Amino acid sequence: MHNQPKFYPQRGTTLFADGRSARPQVENTIGRDQMHADEYFFTGMQGGKEGDGLPVPLTPAVMERGQERYNIFCTPCHSRVGNGDGMIVQRGYRPAGNFHTDRLRSAPLGHFFNVITNGYGAMPEYASQVTPEDRWAIAAYIRALQLSQNGKQGDVASGGHVDDLHKIANENGMPPGFADPWGFPSTAVYGTPNGDDNGIPGQGTGSGTPMGSGAYKAHLGQAATNNASNRNSGGEAVKPTPSANAPGKLAGEHP
Ligand code: HEC
Repeated sequence: MHNQPKFYPQRGTTLFADGRSARPQVENTIGRDQMHADEYFFTGMQGGKEGDGLPVPLTPAVMERGQERYNIFCTPCHSRVGNGDGMIVQRGYRPAGNFHTDRLRSAPLGHFFNVITNGYGAMPEYASQVTPEDRWAIAAYIRALQLSQNGKQGDVASGGHVDDLHKIANENGMPPGFADPWGFPSTAVYGTPNGDDNGIPGQGTGSGTPMGSGAYKAHLGQAATNNASNRNSGGEAVKPTPSANAPGKLAGEHP
């Protein structure tokens, strides 16, 4: 049992005539995970376009699962509140999308599923790590996150009360500006090869906006970021300056 012949992934072999150790799928068969009969559920697309609506019943369990999976897989870059200022971004990764923009608030739910499934620009895809069920749960939770920062009186049951985020932050003794969009720290750099918003691979969905431009900052939903000096004029990747990692301040600390 301890020592037995086996093939390592991606390694060739002389055993089969075509030299491949990984065998092609037998014709007219499907694997257990390949039964994708419901197009919308498995792709987020309907007739080639991103669809809207949750293809599973919305229950508290789905929301809790979505919150848990979001906190595991998305917060390193997008942060717990979804403003795109996660810990990895603070340490130099390209600023991740801010979910609290008009564009993403009105994006169909299938867009979030599509982005998780295929990636988006500098964001890798999570299809191999997050099941379709969980991708929908995360998408539903992102909707809740969006609502949590942009709730209207009409969104709550009668008798319910909606307060402005600034007022809540103020009442809780948070520093001034806490409820404003957060600027990115000087450690955040822009990293895609051509400096553009590249969208979903193969779907041509990127805005093509150069990342150094004001339009791109608007796309991120950010006011002027404080890392302009850290980027060269062509919007190419530049290394964070060592001084940017100044000690004495926690990376996650809000100014
Ligand atoms: C490793 C960092 C990273 C992780 C983890 C990550 N993202 Fe992203 N995400 C990004 C970056 C960077 C962008 C902006 C991409 C660009 O403009 O090139 C982005 C953009 C997005 C967008 C905006 C797309 C648009 O239309 O502008 C959505 C939605 C999104 N991510 C959802 C998620 C979800 C949901 C998860 C968790 C399953 C996740 N991301 C995990 C880095 C990440």
